[in-house]
Amino acid sequence: MIIAQITDMHLSTAGSRNDRLLRTAAHLERAVTHLNALRPRPDAVIATGDLSEHGRVEEYERLRAMLEPLAMPAYLIPSNHDDRENLRRVFDHHRYLPRDGSFIQYTVEEWPLRLVALDTLVPGENGGRLCASRLAWLEARLTEAPERPTLIFMHHPPFATGIISMDGMGLDGIEALAAVIRHHPQVERIVCGHVHRPILRRFAGTVACTCPATAHQLALDLPPEGRLAVVMEPPACMLHVWLGEREGLVTHVSLIGTRHPAFTVFDGSRWLKDAVPPADFHPN
Ligand SMILES: [Fe+2]
Ligand SMILES: [Fe+2]
Repeated sequence: MIIAQITDMHLSTAGSRNDRLLRTAAHLERAVTHLNALRPRPDAVIATGDLSEHGRVEEYERLRAMLEPLAMPAYLIPSNHDDRENLRRVFDHHRYLPRDGSFIQYTVEEWPLRLVALDTLVPGENGGRLCASRLAWLEARLTEAPERPTLIFMHHPPFATGIISMDGMGLDGIEALAAVIRHHPQVERIVCGHVHRPILRRFAGTVACTCPATAHQLALDLPPEGRLAVVMEPPACMLHVWLGEREGLVTHVSLIGTRHPAFTVFDGSRWLKDAVPPADFHPN
């Protein structure tokens, strides 16, 4: 079973600043083509927030149309750039989305790896929060299926990254989340977005990571400056591959939109000692 993760599409309306400066729509189109072309094809896609730039209905309508060609189901969660009600309204055909309630949290049960979606959105704020009510829901969901390997997805990562501008808009409730997770060893992974980079950390007995964005990445500024800059490093998605009880869950990064011709050195039974790389093997 393969779960593909895309994140931080920041889709806005045609002709918007994001279209002109960051080309987020063109990048999302490439991401969808990429996901459909993967072999084996992922069973599902999770999109971990910053789906839109402003949470507007027109942005979600454009997103809905752009996700339409996806060959597999997509599961969405809101974040600091999203709006719960507008998301619910435009994606009312996404049956897994809870119709009402304060938060958009749900589980997906049909695969050997159970998916649990958490909502970290705080309207009007860049940072996120897991309050007592959201965590009580999580505790109840994890308690009801202790034997099922589980992947949790949410927007804000439950750890500081060392990029201080982003850590200033991090997650509230990390300690309380850790207290829940620690008692549920079936949690294989907590996968997040928000930081537009691949980062991972040990967390409360599991592994937490963030996924690169489908469009602009964040400049890797580790020194203690407040700067926030974006950079067009290759967009990417993550592939969370469930190999079964024994081998567990492995996570790969899959680059989008960059063509890297393969040089076959082993054909499955023998080493091809005389093979040479294709002409465009080396990047310019
Ligand atoms: Fe983002
Ligand atoms: Fe974000």
